[in-house]
Amino acid sequence: MPFETLKPQVISILQKDAISVTDRLHEVCQLLSDHISYYDWVGFYFKNGDKNELKLRTYVGEETDHIIIPFGKGICGQVALSNENFIVPDVQAQDNYIACSINVKAEIVVPLFINGENIGQIDIDSETPDPFTEKDEQFLEFVNQEVAKIL
Ligand code: SME
Repeated sequence: MPFETLKPQVISILQKDAISVTDRLHEVCQLLSDHISYYDWVGFYFKNGDKNELKLRTYVGEETDHIIIPFGKGICGQVALSNENFIVPDVQAQDNYIACSINVKAEIVVPLFINGENIGQIDIDSETPDPFTEKDEQFLEFVNQEVAKIL
């Protein structure tokens, strides 16, 4: 399904006031993982209180041990500090990478900002080598901007 078709669906999930924010985020993860063939694991990490670490809030995909990720560690931890999108076409070529599953080939992490502050991120793992483009970045920036409105 093209990104433009998914955008209104993301908005309508995020508007579901009757369910918790975490449940809405989970539905967004499910939507993306169901409709984008190369999105195999989709999750949201957020800064854990005052600590310099990320905490996994919700996800869809293979179970992971990496619920807490210190800032600076792995792709996610690097994005917490850099405030920049990070596309990894080949995870095996990365030094500072935390492996969740041997099947993962590529990853994209896009930070989520509220009033210019990096407070979390969306993280996607793919079992397809080098699948991510600028279009994914733009779409995931859109998703995060919409999520920021309900936090
Ligand atoms: N691969 C990530 C860890 C999180 S998992 O992808 C769920 C990283 O290197 O930060």
